[in-house]
Amino acid sequence: MSSLNPVELIVRKREGGSLTPEEIRTFVNLYTAGEIPDYQVSAFLMAAFIKGLDDAETAALTDSMLFSGSVLDLSDVPGTKVDKHSTGGVGDKVSLILAPIVAACGVPVPMISGRGLGHTGGTLDKLESIPGFRVDLDIPAYRRQLADIGVVMIGQTAEIAPADRKLYALRDVTGTVEFIPFISASIMSKKLAEGIDALVLDVKTGRGAFMKTEAQSRRLAETLVGIGLRFGKPTVALLTRMDVPLGRAIGNWPEVAESVACLRGEQVDDLMEVTLALAGEMIWLGGQANSPEEGIARARASIDSGEAMAKFIELVRVQGGDAALVESGANHPDAHEAYVVRAPDHARGVVTDIDALALGHLSVALGAGRIRKEDPVDPAAGIVLHVKPGEAIEAGQPLAEVFTADRTNLPGFASSVLAAFRFGDERPQLQSLIVDRFTADGWMNL
Ligand code: URA
Repeated sequence: MSSLNPVELIVRKREGGSLTPEEIRTFVNLYTAGEIPDYQVSAFLMAAFIKGLDDAETAALTDSMLFSGSVLDLSDVPGTKVDKHSTGGVGDKVSLILAPIVAACGVPVPMISGRGLGHTGGTLDKLESIPGFRVDLDIPAYRRQLADIGVVMIGQTAEIAPADRKLYALRDVTGTVEFIPFISASIMSKKLAEGIDALVLDVKTGRGAFMKTEAQSRRLAETLVGIGLRFGKPTVALLTRMDVPLGRAIGNWPEVAESVACLRGEQVDDLMEVTLALAGEMIWLGGQANSPEEGIARARASIDSGEAMAKFIELVRVQGGDAALVESGANHPDAHEAYVVRAPDHARGVVTDIDALALGHLSVALGAGRIRKEDPVDPAAGIVLHVKPGEAIEAGQPLAEVFTADRTNLPGFASSVLAAFRFGDERPQLQSLIVDRFTADGWMNL
């Protein structure tokens, strides 16, 4: 394997040539073992980004990343294990609501999640905003908890797809994130390693997503589902809109608080539309419903009965989090005073649009995300929207609350919030956030 010459592969890709599966496997293995330096892999990543990878190369990359670590076998845990993965958005706290709902419906959910990335939030950062919550369980504890309570939510361990850990960090700093073969290999290597039987994908499309156009997002969904099916895992992708923040909260603790409200049945809106659609698919794939529609009905019933909320509290308690705080609905112990952003004097009519990408970047600036990989995140920082598109406004009315430790920049933050809003006289046509559904049978063309 050491006979591989990285420069020869870089040049071949730069000239638009193809690599064999064996070359890709060797390249990934050598990089994971520290035998190819970051600068050569960076050059290769950029060459591939510009010249493309074909289906065979993408498949070989995924397999190499998957088998760079352990592939867990959860067959001793009863039930069909189903997970969900989102390609990333703003205000996307769906996993926090979805995992307890699906577990409460009898489908075990083993979930290995990531941290915030760029302008998008990450499930791990949200969970860690709950004081005491631990996401660093080892694999035996992960397995035990799944068997005991039917749901576990942790971060990527050293055993799971180590090649992705290294490659991901390198892509993040070399401008090579938004590339379908890399995103697909990254997501699917982690998901296939975690021991699932089936997978539901939330492929975001729009301004606040990594894939901005519907055509790109459709191609990503097809690639992801194709990889899942190749590994014999029933896989469904929902294509969902990500132009406007999902729900009303952006930021780690604010999103936990909103998730709890949803689990209590207190909030029914765009966020729950996406959550219930994904839950329906998972409950169906997990064999606890005869169709996704029946799965949605079961998901709703688990909220109405309080079982989904009880499952979330159990998850928080078992993973060391302050369950009493979450259950009480009290604010975070390190909460910041809210800074209220009001509608300007000229504003009247309705909110016609809110730019998810702008507010995602702003939330990072407020402290809720990272600019450098090693930056700490502020659990209590973020934005809570008081109005969403389609809702009427009057001059002076609160549009949003901003939470941050950085009090000196509050006027600048407030003007960034305002700049993300659009107002008009006509109520916009609000479309369903579910654009389409892709399975082994193709697109449903909703
Ligand atoms: N999520 C991942 O895990 N990897 C990517 O490349 C993008 C989103």
